[in-house]
Order: sequence, then C-alpha cells, then structure tokens
Amino acid sequence: MTGSGEIEAAQERRILDLTRRRTLGEPLQYVTGVAGFRHLDVTVGPGVFIPRPETEQVVDRALAHLPRGGIAIDIGTGSGAMALAIAQERPDAEVWATEVSPQALWWGERNVAALSGAVHLVSGDLFDEVPSSLRRRLHVVVSNPPYVGRDEADELPEEVKDHEPQVALFGGGDGLDVIRRITSEARDWLREGGWLVLEIGATQGDRVAALVEGLGYVEVSTGRDLGGRERIVEARR
Ligand SMILES: C[S@@+](CC[C@H](N)C(=O)[O-])C[C@H]1O[C@@H](n2cnc3c(N)ncnc32)[C@H](O)[C@@H]1O
Repeated sequence: MTGSGEIEAAQERRILDLTRRRTLGEPLQYVTGVAGFRHLDVTVGPGVFIPRPETEQVVDRALAHLPRGGIAIDIGTGSGAMALAIAQERPDAEVWATEVSPQALWWGERNVAALSGAVHLVSGDLFDEVPSSLRRRLHVVVSNPPYVGRDEADELPEEVKDHEPQVALFGGGDGLDVIRRITSEARDWLREGGWLVLEIGATQGDRVAALVEGLGYVEVSTGRDLGGRERIVEARR
C-alpha cells in the first residue's frame, strides 16, 4: 500500500520508462500511444505514421466533395485517421481504406475496431485488393501518400526519420513515385465527376497539378495549409 503523494514501484518504473523513451527522441505520440485527429483520438505506436494536423484539412476537402450516401476511399490509411474521421463525420457515407504495410495495418485495424468498425479496411498495394465491384463507383479518392524525395531525407527532423516508418515517408527519387501511381490508377476507380484529393509536399504543387492535368483530370487546383504552404491537390475525373 502507498500513502497519498506516493507512487508504487511499478508506476515509477513505467514513468521512468516513458520518460527515457521520450528523452531518446521517440515522438511524444508513440510514447503516450495516442494522437488527436479532428474529433478522434487514434491509437499509434512504432510502425505507423502519426497523423498530422495539416492532414485534417485534406479531410475537409474530401468531405466537401462527398455527396450524401457517397463512397470514399483512403489510400495508405496508416492508423486509419482520415478514413475514420470521414466515417465519423459522415455516417451516411461508405468508407474504404487500404494499407500496404502489415505493421501499419495492425494499428489501423485496432482503431477501426475501437472507434466504430465503420471503415472497410483492405490490406494491399494501392487499389490492388479493392473489390472490383467498386470500380468506377467512387465519389472520392483521398490520400496522404509518402511524398518525401530521397534528397530531402536529410531535411526531416530526426524524430521523424529515425522513428516513423520509411514506407510512410519516402516516395522515391523525386518523392512522386506513389503519387504517380495513385493519380493514374484512381482514374479506373473514380466515377465520372468523382474527386481525387491528395496531400503533397510543399514544393510539389506545380508538378502534381501538371501530372493530373496530363492524365485528363479537370478542375485541377492546389490548396494551402494554415501555414500558407501549398499542400493539397484536388482534381475531378
Ligand atoms: C504519410 S503516411 C499517411 C498515413 C495516414 N493516411 C495519415 O495521414 O496519418 C502514408 C501511408 O501510406 C502507406 N503506403 C505507402 N505505400 C503504399 C502503397 N503502395 N499502397 C498502400 N499504402 C501505402 C504507408 O504505409 C503509410 O501508412
């Protein structure tokens, strides 16, 4: 038994362990095991990308394009944050999500089970395992893909590059490898008039806008985050 103001040995060990992990540079959200995203608290830990505040705006844009009863998919869902936020804020919608990393998927499944179960989570590379019955039926394809270029790795804070999964961060030499694949493949899954909404790196707006225009999308535009940086591309199929 402990008196008031005292802590038990097990609690002390736990506090010291958490403090040690944080002092060694592990992200706060991994140490606490939770990240806030829109109206949700999602569970996170090593192996999954920590959802960022700027991505909340990407969800805003996806919601703006999602009609009542519409179908949306989040490609590379990680913790499930974006898909779960859409499902929570728009219970009328049908929400799908895919993830290629088994470690990230483990966290995503946990959050989907804990927070609603209202997201259809699929294990696989981009659209590969999405049921073909959804082809040409999606109203919104949204993604915060890996988009950091190989040359930009050194610019990432150590907390990010030493702890968050590489597959969540890096998109090949110029950072656009996954974006090129998503923008191309999404054309087969979006219905006519459906919307693609992508988070991008701050220097990629012009290149990604040109890419999607070249693929035949229309009404292409870029949007800024709260810091004024171009971080979103959206386009209509
Ligand atoms: C930047 S993180 C974003 C995670 C989550 N959407 C968020 O915003 O918190 C990118 C995610 O895409 C996943 N990913 C990378 N390549 C993928 C692919 N080819 N197919 C599906 N998911 C992929 C990564 O594992 C990671 O979870």
